[in-house]
Amino acid sequence: MNPTPSTRHAQSRKAPRAASGKLAVLMPGMGAVATTTMAGVMLARRGLGAPVGSLTQLGRVRVHDEARAWKDVLPLASLSDVEFGGWDLFPEDALAAARHADVLSKEHLDLVADELAAVRPMEAVFYPEYVSRLHGTHVKRGKSKAELVEALQSDIRGFIKQKGADRAVAVWCGSTEKYLPLGAVHESVRSFERGLRENDPSISPAQMYAWACLKERVPFANGSPNLGVESTAALELAREMSVAVSGKDFKTGQTLMKTVIAPALKARQLGLNGWYSTNILGNRDGEVLDDPENFRSKEQTKLGVLDSILEPEDQPELYGKFHHKVRIDYYPPRGDQKEGWDNIDLFGWLGYPMQMKLNFLCRDSILAAPIVLDLALLMDLAQRADMSGMQEWLSFYFKSPMTRSRRAEHDLFGQYDTLRRTLRSLGGLEETAFAHAAE
Ligand SMILES: NC(=O)c1ccc[n+]([C@@H]2O[C@H](COP(=O)([O-])OP(=O)(O)OC[C@H]3O[C@@H](n4cnc5c(N)ncnc54)[C@H](O)[C@@H]3O)[C@@H](O)[C@H]2O)c1
Repeated sequence: MNPTPSTRHAQSRKAPRAASGKLAVLMPGMGAVATTTMAGVMLARRGLGAPVGSLTQLGRVRVHDEARAWKDVLPLASLSDVEFGGWDLFPEDALAAARHADVLSKEHLDLVADELAAVRPMEAVFYPEYVSRLHGTHVKRGKSKAELVEALQSDIRGFIKQKGADRAVAVWCGSTEKYLPLGAVHESVRSFERGLRENDPSISPAQMYAWACLKERVPFANGSPNLGVESTAALELAREMSVAVSGKDFKTGQTLMKTVIAPALKARQLGLNGWYSTNILGNRDGEVLDDPENFRSKEQTKLGVLDSILEPEDQPELYGKFHHKVRIDYYPPRGDQKEGWDNIDLFGWLGYPMQMKLNFLCRDSILAAPIVLDLALLMDLAQRADMSGMQEWLSFYFKSPMTRSRRAEHDLFGQYDTLRRTLRSLGGLEETAFAHAAE
């Protein structure tokens, strides 16, 4: 039997080493998503809030008819062993940044105020040409990009030492950078390092953080749509350093629903004429995405999913002509409470048209925070199982997953299947138990 995309990468794995000591979770970009994640973990580990949406914290797996928590089956780092750190071009600590982001209530933030205030951002590597809407002063100076990468490496080592951590993992929660295609500089470790020395403009800050992490053997997950570890050079370095990478762009709201509904249309052989998606969003992310250059990065990751799920070339009569449009409008009154509308023009028996309207009144960072936590813990797990390079099995969490094959798996349930199989294998659950699984 040919492996399907969902089973292809779910092979048996080496048992992960135990999670001993503290885990430093480093976030370049301490804005809404990062501070909501930090505050949520701080609340959850004191029993003051539930980590809803997190598979590592709440998810269960059926083993011999018993539903066991994934965190009891897998040697995951415990929340009490997590130490948060990060970088930002604004000097505010995580409490002030969380207040500014205005995602969590005063009541929630007050409960962990001291702990949050103790998380102070390290100086950022930032050039305004990649995110023109932001102007911060908490920024490193250096003659070359190579020098700045070294400064980031020194930050990482210093943070690990200061916190007495055993190991670290990084999740990029920084702003979306402007769209930049891959170029010659991204083709090899050598060309990238030359580019760093020569201040090549095709190398963005996100790529510099990723490079510093890889050099320090810190697994790196990219939560935004711009390129971080998604280049031949970064993958070559990840292999050389035996470090895990994943990306890109957290799959939180509208795309999550798209990757649930589109597979349903396909399974029922219903046709599609068009899919119009629009959003209003009023947080800093929305402000950054209001710049067409930055929106272009987001558009690329949001547009890719339908073609991959519907495979129009195989069924042009059903999916050959659909029009797919995605918009994001910056609308300050809504803050982090994004509203997404989808209008789906589908057709059925004998070609009769139908419409579906989806109105998702979501909260951006509330959906993203559990993804950041899961990625941090699962990337750390992968690293302890010596699973280096691209982690395709984590596609479940991304809008535009990294993949070795020509076509990425976008169907949420295909991705979920791969995730569960890989976790089962990492947890040493036997195949017989798997055969009876009914999660
Ligand atoms: N919230 C969601 O649902 C969601 C979904 C998918 C992806 N994302 C992505 O996650 C990222 C974070 O989103 P957010 O809502 O927290 O945005 P935000 O604007 O609140 O936070 C981003 C932070 O990154 C900082 N920053 C920008 N460039 C930096 C650099 N070079 N170094 C250090 N800090 C830098 C900014 O100052 C800001 O504080 C964005 O790229 C966004 O597109 C969010």
